[in-house]
Formats: sequence, structure tokens, C-alpha cells
Amino acid sequence: MKTAVYPGTFDPITYGHIDIIERARDIFDKVIVMVAQNPEKQPLFTDTERVTMIKKVVSKYRNVEVDSYDGLLVEFAKRKKATAIVRGLRAVSDFEYEFQMALMNRKLEANITTVFLMPHEKYTYLNSSLVREISRLGGDVSEFVPPIVRQLLSKKLKSLRK
Ligand code: COA
Repeated sequence: MKTAVYPGTFDPITYGHIDIIERARDIFDKVIVMVAQNPEKQPLFTDTERVTMIKKVVSKYRNVEVDSYDGLLVEFAKRKKATAIVRGLRAVSDFEYEFQMALMNRKLEANITTVFLMPHEKYTYLNSSLVREISRLGGDVSEFVPPIVRQLLSKKLKSLRK
């Protein structure tokens, strides 16, 4: 059984991330989407909210699980008996950061390989910060996130305005 971990901040999950999940689930027997901690970021949604949101989005996929972890990615992967880490590469600008993380993760755990997948080119410009910003400013994000994410985003932003 080949298991892969797809880590990220997912604040929120977008169609670009879902594109990667769909590609990964065709390659691996099981894909575990891991809501991770990036010390550089202060997410809008809590870990639990992001896990619940992603679970709703991927519930139709039989071989996709969702979890969160606040330790090292490679530790989580080992615990889950995963042999691969999946990351998306949208543009050349992603490369240096991803290359550094992949090599560091390999240094930490030689038996886990990072696999890069390219989402559809229509998602090249997409990221979660832009989605949050557009939503905050009243723009339409329906092309970028599923309806449930759009609803949760506007609910969250409304609750913060109170
Ligand atoms: N479609 C759309 N957007 C995408 C995307 C795709 N396919 N792939 C990435 N992005 C966007 C994300 O939305 C995110 O946007 P944002 O910066 O506006 O929030 C951005 O690209 C970065 O992506 P993400 O995949 O969330 O990575 P990250 O840099 O936030 O997180 C971790 C990196 C979580 C994987 C890394 O910090 C980690 O492994 N943490 C665990 C602790 C650890 O092991 N640290 C040591 C690492 S060597």
C-alpha cells in the first residue's frame, strides 16, 4: 500500500490544491492531506476548522484522509507509514523554496521522497492569501474555491467584523 502525505497550510483549500489531491490519488493508494504549521503564517482558520473544511471538500474521494499535525512533517509521514510527500509546483518561482524543503526533509528522513506534481496551468496564479483578500474585499471567489469554502470564508470574515 503506497501512502503519500500532502502537507500545507490550506487557509483555505482552493481548486488548485484539489487539483493536486486528484492527481495524487490516482498515483497513490492513500493520500493524507496534512494541515501543517508554518511558523511564518497566522492562519485565518484554526487547525480544526481547516481539517473540517477539507474533510467536507474531499469526502467524495475514497482514498483521501485529512489530519493536522503541529510537529515535523517527516515524523507525521513516518507515523502514517507514508513513503512520499506530495507538493505542488505552480511556477518556477515555487522551485527554490520547494527544493530546499525537499532536500531538508530528505536529510531528516532519507526513506521519504518528495514528489512534485503540477496543477493545471489555470491555477498558476492562485494562492490562499489572494482568495482571502478578494473575499475580504467583497470580490467573487467562486472560480477559486468550492461553494462550501466560499460560505465558510464569508461567515468567518463576517464574524471577525462584529
Ligand atoms: N494551488 C493553489 N495554491 C497553492 C497550490 C496549489 N496547487 N500549492 C500551493 N499553493 C499556495 C498556498 O495556497 C499557499 O498560499 P499562501 O502563501 O497565500 O497561504 C502557498 O502556495 C504556500 O503553500 P503551502 O502548500 O500551504 O505551503 P506553506 O509554505 O504554507 O507550508 C509546509 C509549508 C506546511 C509544508 C511546511 O511549513 C512544513 O512542512 N511544516 C511542518 C513542519 C516541518 O516539518 N518543518 C520543516 C520543513 S523542512
